Amino acid sequence: MCKKIYLDSPNVGVQEKEYVNNAIDAGYVSTAGPFVSEFEERFALYLGAKAAVSTQSGTAALHMALYELKIRAGDEVIVPAATFVATVNPVVYTGATPVFADVDRRTWNISPSEIKKNVNRKTKAIIPVHFYGNPCDMDEILEIAKEHNLYVIEDAAESLGAQYKGRHTGTFGIFGCFSFNGNKIITTGGGGMVVGNDTERLKHIKFLVNQAKDEKEEYYHPEIGFNKRMTNIESALGLAQMNRLSEFLRKKKLFNSIYRKELEGITGIRFQEEHEGARSSRWLTCIVFEEKIDVKKLQKRLEEKGIPTRRIFMPVVEFPPYRRYKKYDYKNCYEIYEKGLCLPSSTVNSESDIYYVCETLKQAIF
Ligand SMILES: Cc1ncc(COP(=O)(O)O)c(C=O)c1O
Repeated sequence: MCKKIYLDSPNVGVQEKEYVNNAIDAGYVSTAGPFVSEFEERFALYLGAKAAVSTQSGTAALHMALYELKIRAGDEVIVPAATFVATVNPVVYTGATPVFADVDRRTWNISPSEIKKNVNRKTKAIIPVHFYGNPCDMDEILEIAKEHNLYVIEDAAESLGAQYKGRHTGTFGIFGCFSFNGNKIITTGGGGMVVGNDTERLKHIKFLVNQAKDEKEEYYHPEIGFNKRMTNIESALGLAQMNRLSEFLRKKKLFNSIYRKELEGITGIRFQEEHEGARSSRWLTCIVFEEKIDVKKLQKRLEEKGIPTRRIFMPVVEFPPYRRYKKYDYKNCYEIYEKGLCLPSSTVNSESDIYYVCETLKQAIF
């Protein structure tokens, strides 16, 4: 019998069930209920941001951030080509044009020199993605943004708990967007959050996600709104998960250090490096092989031993709706995609599971 190892499965326990039951017992299963604001306040406090607005997903959080800034047709938004497609789709929802930049070979994050290369008078915003939880070079990015008067919206979907020079990711740009999908650091089943310090704008996002419902006059909607609210049940789950956040981060860090200790000496394997002053959330530990190997064959061999893996994201410019935006060869994005592999990082795993993955991987590649 093979061991059961988990790639990125959620870690949901007794306390989460209690909180969700409380929401159900109180009759607040939908968007009304006390857990929603409690979760938002707790989240903002944890990050050191002035306010947070919960949403149905990380994708919705990014969409609302762009919409609030009136990003629209004719505008350009710079994004990394190596990311999950959900970073880019919201740009298109607004009618704006995504402009793809290559990533840094060491950190796998959007490269500041690539951003500079793509800025022009149509550029309105940059969406740096803290890829796999690894903080971007925020000093450089903020400097470019200041020089060219651009908004920075951080895609912090994977980086809850990560810090750059002592500050949480998601608190550097005008908005930071998080995801609580089942595979993220904490989960609400599905959900997201927009955070920031501009309380007026965040108040407006809260109004927009709730069908732009007027506070005083019943069934009066002065603007076109959206239904992108988080439910009380989801927030209950999120609050219980917040109680366990430090446990999850500690485990992610431990797993990453085991992988590095066991695999770093092996010729031909390299890890994602942190920028100076950055501390990754270690959401997923991934490796890149120096030589081109048959990644699919390796995955199959590992799968036979009960080890699930996933490839690094295919560059977004490969997808039919985005092919026409492919301007360069995006060398580094393609390198990590072609030679990369994400290893089991779920906090449901034990330390010995991770040692087992390392041993099996060593046998599979030699
Ligand atoms: C980098 C990145 N951006 C955005 C998202 C979108 O989040 P969600 O799935 O909650 O919509 C995700 C995760 O799914 C992600 O990994």
